[in-house]
Amino acid sequence: MKPLRKKNFPVDDVRRFLEPGPIVLVSSAWKGQTNIMTMGWHMMMGFSPSLFGCYIWDQNHSFDLIRKSRQCVINLPTFDLLNKVIGIGNCSGVEVDKFSKFGLTAVAGKKVDAPLIEECYANFECRLYDGSRINKLSLFVWEVVKAHVATSPKYPTTVHYRGEGRFMISGKEIERRSRFRAQNL
Ligand SMILES: Cc1cc2nc3c(=O)[nH]c(=O)nc-3n(C[C@H](O)[C@H](O)[C@H](O)COP(=O)(O)O)c2cc1C
Repeated sequence: MKPLRKKNFPVDDVRRFLEPGPIVLVSSAWKGQTNIMTMGWHMMMGFSPSLFGCYIWDQNHSFDLIRKSRQCVINLPTFDLLNKVIGIGNCSGVEVDKFSKFGLTAVAGKKVDAPLIEECYANFECRLYDGSRINKLSLFVWEVVKAHVATSPKYPTTVHYRGEGRFMISGKEIERRSRFRAQNL
């Protein structure tokens, strides 16, 4: 392989390459108030229990609702919801009711008080598993306690943020199962 030519790159911008999985919508509820925020900074942290870590900026209104309730729902939107996803991430729940402003339907969860967003492909009900890094790093570690997933299509068209207002849309799928160790599948 021809060596790649590389240049020095500002560390503040590495997110462009490392931003992880799909953009999600985080719904929350506390004392009768509900809210939604857009989120790109998250990662899986375990299979069983099913752990999910995420960064929630302390200036977001959602931060307060989520920290106090110790619950949330991680909703997986698809490409058709992209403009709503952007809108939700660019306004504050202090000023607007985002369910009504963006025409989304709140559905009661089975295990948490935070509402599910019906229009999303999947909804993962979460309870706080470890809050020890909230104050220092705004890092919340969740246990997914209930998952609701659409039966079709099998691989939804998700959106992945690249910074600077650009998104990657999930596309081609390939399968390489036979090259994997069982524990890495
Ligand atoms: C594409 C996108 C990704 C975002 N990712 C995150 C994130 O990972 N963590 C975070 O705290 N805020 C993130 N935000 C910002 C919040 O969604 C935004 O501040 C939102 O207005 C918060 O709403 P709230 O104040 O009603 O909670 C993102 C916004 C966009 C548009």
